Amino acid sequence: MVPCSQDVGFKLQPEALEKAITDKTKWLILNSPSNPTGAVYSRDELAALGEVLLKHPNVLIMTDDIYEHIIFDGLGFHTIAQVVPGLKSRTLTINGVSKAYAMTGWRIGYAGGPRQLIEGMAMLQSQSTSNPCSISQAATVAALEGPQEFLAERSAEFQRRRDFALQAVRKIDGLTCESPEGAFYLYPNCEALIGKSTHEGRVIATDHDLTLYLLDEAKVAAVQGEAYGLSPHLRISIATSMAKLSEALSRIENAIGKLR
Ligand SMILES: Cc1ncc(COP(=O)(O)O)c(C=O)c1O
Repeated sequence: MVPCSQDVGFKLQPEALEKAITDKTKWLILNSPSNPTGAVYSRDELAALGEVLLKHPNVLIMTDDIYEHIIFDGLGFHTIAQVVPGLKSRTLTINGVSKAYAMTGWRIGYAGGPRQLIEGMAMLQSQSTSNPCSISQAATVAALEGPQEFLAERSAEFQRRRDFALQAVRKIDGLTCESPEGAFYLYPNCEALIGKSTHEGRVIATDHDLTLYLLDEAKVAAVQGEAYGLSPHLRISIATSMAKLSEALSRIENAIGKLR
């Protein structure tokens, strides 16, 4: 794991990548827009990572582009095989219908990559899970070939939720938050709350303690940064209605306000 901390926008830096690559390195896994941080790599940032990767021909690249269509502030979406064509022959680009088309339950993902790798994946999958059901495949074709105008509208709606939730989180004493550029999560830093106690005298020693406290006290579920290897943070999903977001955020504010 290469830590990608808040002070570098939660993004992998070329120097850190260079330092992390050894003879044993097989894959670099990238995800942009990112779950959980909402970080989005620009064309230039991908090109800079690409320069490092071009020097290491044995490293394969897997890029998870599943939040491709949920992107804010007019930023364009870029993916490494497109930005650095010299890497295309060793890049596996993965995507799916779960996020863009709200089709999580249909269980369809797909990938584009070098023939040999795709053939290997097909062989492995045909012997383990067989294949995704034909009904889901037909639904996916309909999603991908149907009208696409609503994708921009949905993205704008997520941006409104992002703006609303960000403003609410930034008002909460003890949380600071970067503005996510895509996906549908906020990833506030909760360092200022570590060491505080609940009214029952339980110490909040980690971000996990904080999520358990919020579940208990506010009946709101958030995911601890620990689960993503970057603490102390909380992941808050904004994939819900404004009304629910508003209620949840005021409960979080209330519960955090009770910590001493
Ligand atoms: C970054 C990322 N990739 C892939 C997925 C997988 O989605 P699914 O299993 O629904 O295709 C998710 C879902 O949360 C995700 O956040």
